[in-house]
Formats: sequence, structure tokens, C-alpha cells
Amino acid sequence: MCGIVGYIGKRRASPVLLDGLKKLEYRGYDSAGIAVLDQGILRVVKRQGRVEELGAAHSLDGCIGIGHTRWATHGAPSARNAHPHVFRGIAVVHNGIIENAAALRALCLARGETFLSDTDSEVVAHLIAHAFCGDLLSAVIRAARELTGSFALAVLREGGEEIVCARKKSPLIAAAGEGESFVASDIPAIAASGRRAYILQDGEFARLTAEDVQLYDENGALIAREGVVLEEGELAPDRGTYAHFMRKEIDEIPRAVQNSLFSADYFQKNGFSEVLCQTEYIDIVACGTAYHSGLCAKAAIEELLRIPVRVFLASEYRYTRPIVRGDALTIAVSQSGETADTLAAAQLAKEKGCKVLALTNCARSTLTRMSDLLLVTGAGREVGVAATKSFQAQLAALYSLCAALAYFRKKRVPSPKDLLPLCGQSIRESAAVAGWAPCFAAARNVFFLGRGADRCAALEGSLKFKEITYLPAEGYAAGELKHGALALADETTPVVALAFDERLAEKTMNAVHEVYARGAPVFLVTCFPALCGQKEVSSFVLLPACEPAFSPMLSVIPLQLLAYETAVFLKNDPDKPRNLAKSVTVE
Ligand code: M6R
Repeated sequence: MCGIVGYIGKRRASPVLLDGLKKLEYRGYDSAGIAVLDQGILRVVKRQGRVEELGAAHSLDGCIGIGHTRWATHGAPSARNAHPHVFRGIAVVHNGIIENAAALRALCLARGETFLSDTDSEVVAHLIAHAFCGDLLSAVIRAARELTGSFALAVLREGGEEIVCARKKSPLIAAAGEGESFVASDIPAIAASGRRAYILQDGEFARLTAEDVQLYDENGALIAREGVVLEEGELAPDRGTYAHFMRKEIDEIPRAVQNSLFSADYFQKNGFSEVLCQTEYIDIVACGTAYHSGLCAKAAIEELLRIPVRVFLASEYRYTRPIVRGDALTIAVSQSGETADTLAAAQLAKEKGCKVLALTNCARSTLTRMSDLLLVTGAGREVGVAATKSFQAQLAALYSLCAALAYFRKKRVPSPKDLLPLCGQSIRESAAVAGWAPCFAAARNVFFLGRGADRCAALEGSLKFKEITYLPAEGYAAGELKHGALALADETTPVVALAFDERLAEKTMNAVHEVYARGAPVFLVTCFPALCGQKEVSSFVLLPACEPAFSPMLSVIPLQLLAYETAVFLKNDPDKPRNLAKSVTVE
């Protein structure tokens, strides 16, 4: 998604802004730009493509500036549509979507104003310029009243000595250092040990000067709030000797799992007892990989505890009038805690009377502030756009919840702690997938097949594969294949079959026979040695056995590695897949 940085202080702004934009690159973007006040005059450089394309910005002088990486929503990726947008000396960078942009634009056009881009954001510069009567903060507050939708804004005025910011449903953080202030849409862009950070809440505004950061409410009244001192762990991450963050983050899975397992004691001490004793229905809302974690949790909780669990795509939940029981526990799963659809679904569940449990990797995210109960996974920062360690961390927390539900109901289920030593072993045993990459890179289509919990893992495997290889892939219920998709099977369609449940393994192998008979090369991921020797199997990964209902925590590891190895083989950058963003803050 789009990224914002802003700087005001004694240093030249452009290197600080370019550095900040580099640190936001992991979020995904397709164009970039900066605006600097050079002796009070606005200078703007905008380019399509990477931050490196902004080379001309290095020559800009001036100690006040704003910058932006844009992920196109309204209007094609191009320099013209890149931010900052400038109108009558007002420069604006914007994250989010202005839903009434068309109507506002029409008003501006009627006033005889002209537009230079196709974006929804440009209208914000017009509104602020129009509202300006000598005080930028008041103008931004007035303009914000006209906007519907979501926005994080950073605004400069020609001749001014401040940056003004606004937030509604799109994250924004200001930070104060020694004689300098910063603003960004994400902490890594501004973090340095000891700086004091101010996380803007919805409806809040900030005025940054070199001396200070001040927060205001929507009436322009000063808000007194202590900032939080940033710590080492929040600073920009380091790739170390790894070629890509994604590969490093796969190796970090064991630690992520260890830091995301919660004991029954933890649940007891943190206010979960009543809910876990009484809950008869569970709904899970999430998107993408987090949705697949939800499916895996459903498989485990229903299998081991017979408590009904429904899993909703958050984007569907909010618009399909779900039939919701007010006594259901709703779990909102989101690595970032900022995904717009998941936030909206959690809000809707609250309005229906449900208790909302937030499961997130980001303790200071918006989701945490709207939940009744909170589980923060300990995956650490995940930089790769493709979710890896955060998936296993979510499973560790959800399986812990399953064990806690059992504990509070005086039932017994296998302990998810038993998975911990098996994670590192699974990474090592998955090394063989590097050799599979040439075959998968040449594929016309790829199937990931499984039944039960294996099917949930297959869905996540196919998402990962599509996301970074740009090749078509489908996660499929093994038994469903012959009802249509088998028509696609031929020698150009490698199939990854997953088999971790003894009761279902032979059934899954039936699908293997069917695709093999049509020429498809078969790759097996299993914990059953006997299956690996079957003539249909071209190559296999043999993983340690575990409770089948918990097996996706292990079985997804070789699938993450397969996607990674194939992407690298194809010379794609697995950390920054095209068109995608790390946190999707617009719907
Ligand atoms: O931050 P979230 O967990 O809410 O993000 C949800 C999805 O956008 C995310 O899981 C996405 O599908 C992954 N990047 C896929 O690898």
C-alpha cells in the first residue's frame, strides 16, 4: 500500500525522505515522489517505478519535505498520478481512498480549477488551498470535514515552516527527535532509538515543526498526550546474510511459533476465562493468509472440540449480511492489524453484540484498539510481502486458544507446544524443494491438493505460489478434482499432494493416481514414509508426524519454500511481488 514520510529539521530533507521511502518499500508501490521546501519554494520530483528513479531529488535543497510511495487505486501507475499533488502552493501526500472524490472534483471544476492527475487524492490539495486563510492547520481541519472515505495526509505549504497531518482510518505516526520531527505511515520509516512517537487516532491532526509535534482534535483543540519512546525492536530490520527477507523469515518460524504459544494460565490471567468457558460458537474474519489461518483453526477446533467455527473472508462478511449470533466469539485475524476489510468486519461484529478477539502481530495497530480481547503474536516484524512466519505464529496462537478452550471445558487435546521442536526439523527436511523449482517455473498451472486440514494448507500453498511466482495455481480439495478441474491435468500441471491424516491419506492418493494417469508430475508432502515410495511420486518431502489437526503449521513450510525457490528461479523479487502491498489499508 501507499507510504508516507515527512521531515522537518536542520538536515537536508531529501536524503531523509528517500531513506524513509526505501524503508517503506516492503509495503508495495508502483510510483514515488517527494516535495521539498527550498527557501520557501516548493520543488517536486515524481517518477513511475522504484524510489531509485527519484535520483533528481538528491539535488533538492531545503530542510522541510514530504514523500510518498503510491500503490495505484484511482488512475494508472505513472509519474503524473504519483504524489505529492500540488495546487496553489499546497502539496499533499495521501494514503487511503477519498470516496466522494468525484463529487468534490466536480465542485472544483465548476470553480474553474484544473486537475493534473486521475487520482482521488489531488482533490485534497484543492480543498485545502480553498480553505486556507493564513493557518494551514485550520485549513486542513476544514478540508477534512468535506472528505468521506479514509485518509492519512501530510501537507506542506509554500513559504510555510510546518507540516500538517491528518488521520482517518489509515495509520499515521509522528515522531519528535532532537531539533527535528518526522511523520510516516509506518514506524520503520522514522524509527531511531529514543525518538518519541505519537500514534495519531482517527479524527486527529498533527502540526510538526522542527521543535515539536503537537496533536489536535477535529475542532482544533490541543490534545495533551505523552508520546511513546521507540525501542530497538521497532527499528528497521536487517536482512543479514540472506538474499531476501522472505527466506530469512521462513528460518525465523521456530522463534515466531515459540513466541506465539500461549498457556492456559495466560488466558486465565488476561480475562479470557469467561469467554472460553461459555463460547458455543466462533466466527473468524480475516483476509488472505490470515483467512487460511482461520480455516486451519476451524479444522482443529471442530475436529478436536466439536465447537462450530465459521470462517469469513472479511471483505464478504461486511457486505453479505451475515447471520451473526450476538453470543458468538468473533476472532479477527490480521498480521498488520490495519487491513481495512478486517477492521470493518470486526466493527460490524461488535455492533452485532459479539465479543471481538483481535489476533495480530502488531500490538499498536488499529485492530487492537477496537477489540475486547487481544492476542499479540510474537513473529517480530515481517518485511516480505508474502506472509510466512506470521502464518505459523497465527496458528500457534489459534491452536493455543483451542487447547485453552479444552482446558476450560475440562477436555484434553494434544498440546500445540509439541509442534515447536518440529518446526526447525521441517525447515531442514524441506530443502529438497529447491530441486523442484525448474519444473514448477515451467508449469502452465499448479495444483495443491489435500483433504481436511491438508486442504487448508493447500490453499495457503497456492496463494503463496501465485503471489510471488505470478503463475496460476489452485488449492483444491483432493476429492473435488474429478468434478471439473481434472480436465486441466496434463504434463504441464505439476501437482503437490499433502497427506498428514492417516484416515484421509489413501483417499488423497486416489487423486494422485488420477492426475498421474493424465501425465501430471506428482510431488508429495507427507509424514508417511510408505507413501513416498509409490511409483506416481516424482519427489517428496517427508516431515515429522504430529497431531493431524495441527499439521498445517508444518506442512505449509515446504510450500512457502517452494514458492520462494520458484520465484527466485524465475528472477522475481519474492520480497516485493508486483501489484501487491504488505498491508491493505483500503477496501
Ligand atoms: O495484515 P493482514 O494479515 O490482515 O493481511 C491480510 C492479507 O492481505 C495477507 O495475509 C496477504 O494475503 C499475504 N500478504 C499473503 O502472503
